[in-house]
Amino acid sequence: MTQPIRLGVNIDHIATLRNARGGRHPDPLRAAKLAARAGADGITAHLREDRRHIVDRDIERLSAELTVPLNLEMAATDEMLAIAKRHAPHACCLVPERREEVTTEGGLDVAGQQETLKRCVGELGGAGTRVSLFIDPDRKQLEAAAATGAPVVELHTGAYCDAFLEAAAQGQAPDDATRRELDRIVAGARLAGELGLECHAGHGLTFDTVKPVAALAQVVELNIGHFLVGEAAFVGLDAAIRRMRELMDEARARVAAAS
Ligand code: PXP
Repeated sequence: MTQPIRLGVNIDHIATLRNARGGRHPDPLRAAKLAARAGADGITAHLREDRRHIVDRDIERLSAELTVPLNLEMAATDEMLAIAKRHAPHACCLVPERREEVTTEGGLDVAGQQETLKRCVGELGGAGTRVSLFIDPDRKQLEAAAATGAPVVELHTGAYCDAFLEAAAQGQAPDDATRRELDRIVAGARLAGELGLECHAGHGLTFDTVKPVAALAQVVELNIGHFLVGEAAFVGLDAAIRRMRELMDEARARVAAAS
């Protein structure tokens, strides 16, 4: 039977907007509570080393007040490990981080830092946190992820979404490049299942790109942020999240009917 799919709403860019002026508005905690009412199954927040959006106080408030699970995104550093162990969130997603990047550009090189990641996975797991590794949908990274003992991987969907947008900007339907990137995600999700890894996906997803990913039976959670916060400027956060949920559920219902 096909499992339902969860939506994790990433509220980083509510904090980006707040920080543009300093002060307290718009409040990420208020957005998180609204997201939960609109159908988010969990909230994701990325505490970056440079605190460019979410700050430590946000994590404290989210940890204290949220009634849905918190997924703390972070780099695998000692500083972040100490913060995560203090709050013991439901989940931690380990991501690569470079100060000069605008967003998380690629997945973790798990194969290249297997011992460090294994230690993080063990320490966070010991604190009761479920760890996922954010990786590109590559066989080598998936096999390395499984070897760290992490229970979950999150597949980076950015290349697929970029290819889709590029084709759309040229006035074209999804092209070979889009299909190639989607095929990599399909194969990655299948391999994750074979390796016994729970499979999540995210980055760059929009109303136009979400359905083919939500339709993958192995993918049980999507984490979506930037598009929803942007769309909120036009239709409101509540309506944007409800529409995303609807599209995900439609895609899922079709899979369930076919299986
Ligand atoms: N998943 C991970 C691991 C991410 O780093 C991000 C971006 O912070 C997302 C999902 C959400 O991506 P987007 O904001 O493009 O929807």
